[in-house]
Amino acid sequence: MNAVNDISSTNKNEINAPWKKQEMQSVETKVNALIEQMTLAEKIGQLNMQDGTGEHAVAYLAMSIRNGSLGSILNQTNVETINELQRIALEESRLKIPLLIARDVIHGFKTVMPIPLGQAASWNPELVKQGAVIAATEAASTGINWTFAPMVDISRDPRWGRIAESLGEDPYLAGELGAAMVKGFQGENLSDKNSIAACVKHFVGYGAAEGGRDYSATNIPDNEMHNVYLRPFKAAVDAGAETLMASFSDIDGVPATANDYLLTDVLRDEWKFDGTVVSDWNAVGELEDHGIADGEKSAALLASVAGIDMEMAGKCFSGHLEDLVTSGQLSTEKLDQMVANVLRTKLRLGLFDNPYTNPSDYPGIAYPEALKVAKESAVQSLVLLKNDNDTLPLSNNIASLAVIGPLADAPYEQLGTWIFDGDATFSVTALNGIQSFVGDSTKVNYCKALANSRSESTEAFDDALQVAKASDAVILCLGEESILSGEAHCRADIDLPGAQVELVKTLHAAGKPIILVVLAGRSITLGNVVDYCDAILFAWHPGTMGGAAIADVVFGKVSPSGKLPVTFPSVVGQVPMYYNHKNTGRPPSKEKVILMDEIEEFAPQTSLGMTAFYLDAGYKPLFAFGHGLSYGEFEYSQLQLSASKIAPREELTVTVNLKNTGACQAEEVVQLYTRDLVGSVTRPVKELKGFKRIALGPNEETTVTFKLTASDLAFYNRKGKWGAEPGKFHLWVGGSSLADLCAEFELTE
Ligand code: BGC
Repeated sequence: MNAVNDISSTNKNEINAPWKKQEMQSVETKVNALIEQMTLAEKIGQLNMQDGTGEHAVAYLAMSIRNGSLGSILNQTNVETINELQRIALEESRLKIPLLIARDVIHGFKTVMPIPLGQAASWNPELVKQGAVIAATEAASTGINWTFAPMVDISRDPRWGRIAESLGEDPYLAGELGAAMVKGFQGENLSDKNSIAACVKHFVGYGAAEGGRDYSATNIPDNEMHNVYLRPFKAAVDAGAETLMASFSDIDGVPATANDYLLTDVLRDEWKFDGTVVSDWNAVGELEDHGIADGEKSAALLASVAGIDMEMAGKCFSGHLEDLVTSGQLSTEKLDQMVANVLRTKLRLGLFDNPYTNPSDYPGIAYPEALKVAKESAVQSLVLLKNDNDTLPLSNNIASLAVIGPLADAPYEQLGTWIFDGDATFSVTALNGIQSFVGDSTKVNYCKALANSRSESTEAFDDALQVAKASDAVILCLGEESILSGEAHCRADIDLPGAQVELVKTLHAAGKPIILVVLAGRSITLGNVVDYCDAILFAWHPGTMGGAAIADVVFGKVSPSGKLPVTFPSVVGQVPMYYNHKNTGRPPSKEKVILMDEIEEFAPQTSLGMTAFYLDAGYKPLFAFGHGLSYGEFEYSQLQLSASKIAPREELTVTVNLKNTGACQAEEVVQLYTRDLVGSVTRPVKELKGFKRIALGPNEETTVTFKLTASDLAFYNRKGKWGAEPGKFHLWVGGSSLADLCAEFELTE
């Protein structure tokens, strides 16, 4: 195979393709003109995506591309190979239709940002967008033009390994951040050289897998489907997402891949989505395993009729669509719609005009701006869960510091799940970051203590204890290796694995301040270690620059500002646990509106009566959604509403005074929640409606303003309609979902 190395010699105007004709102005005209010329086999080829790796794959792909039976590949990342495959498509296939080249570029390409759940802890859409811009730029330099991200599946179950890839439990936060990722990947214009198509996944409900076991069935009632699971997808579609991926899962008896209600009625008819819908890997064929299709042909029919346009890595479409169309079971009109969706995506990507990639047009990998964004993203993702007696920040003058734990110096592990292309040679570990921060002024005593997070061996604990005793403070880097989260990597027990809990207790005996830094792909139940630590910094899997970010925060160069995008239960048996739950008829509080902090400590059952709680774990989480401490001290006051009543077309202005009464410059994520007190269907006890990141110096104060309209208060009601209902609302503003500064207003008819 001849790779196209000098792509500058390829004169775009020489491509004599049918869509080049002057009169084909609009994308739609071009799509229709192409479809008119396509044979049935060529149409089906556009709906076929195959794996581009493996020894013989490239030769096989070349043949399929040449004869028009393959329109898209995934997982090939060699730019020369990709250029050559595009050349074959453009020069040797009959209709000269370029290829979609897909890859899971989830939270970075070579430069790795924190895992998406970590990025969500930044509550910073602009930063999340910049992370996606870097990922797109690095990936596009190899010829990739389509990423399978963002994942906006709501997850309320940290046992599910893919929670790492999610943007948390809240539909509004996930929607805002998912939309930001879409904009970052797709850029100003999808046809720009740095832009790649986003693929919002997994439509829909995948995160509700029963028991947190990946691929398990999901049972999502209509009310929850619309009010929770669909919302972030709608936000991402509204942000211009070019493609969507259907979920693997069964939803109430109809797997997503065959779910015509979701894929067609909601997505196409209601939301007017006109891009490409791709199946997940072999998910069309798996309709047979679900027990809803009787063989591959029936699976192909179910999936295509429901609304899947392209099959990923399967043979159902390529093997059976021809038969289905010629026998009249699948209409030509439907087939043409599927093909049109794919061609539209290719046209919008500008691939017909510019299919080749010249790496020298790009800044390369791990370039300064990429590392800068990765560091800022890691800094803002760090959540300070606990900080007794102002243990943090540590003084720069500390004479000696113990850095202990299997994740203190693990360059690959800190990158997290889904880093096919991530390059750990660029990683700055916590040990590296701390050493270079303190230079020679502090003696850093390192001890790994455990071979890995799962090790049960306590052999090195005595050494670790001596290291702790010989130091002024202990930074203890524990958590999970990257392999413990991600697809098909679920855990039934989400405590710190192996002998790590024992290690915490052992080191506590040294009598030195213990700063626990957790690197993990999910929320970890820390109920059994929280009392043994003076401070806890939750770092998620923080990516390439994680260690540099940890050092900056530990030594107070920058204040921590991350806030939890998921509720942290104390013990796994509390799962699912999420802040925006329903009140129930018997809430564990005498008040109608539960304020989660009303009952200070776990109370014995007698004082909570016949209510919704656990005898042995109460009803409160260990750390609430939205929680995160700071080196600043933020005081909220003067919550004011512009009116006590608003009509459906009016706007409510909410203002609050925020003052940093602490001694450090810091950023606070101000959060706005509401509760609809009476609805035609029961409504959550709190719902996030807005957030803002505000930077304030010591003693500085400001007024923070939010605007609310009836559309922000809308929900899917008893009649199956989306809209707000008149009545009273409570509203809170504060630094977490426990915010207690409360006001009331009414939405009138
Ligand atoms: C995952 C998708 C991913 C695809 C391609 C599947 O197993 O569920 O999220 O995009 O593989 O790698």
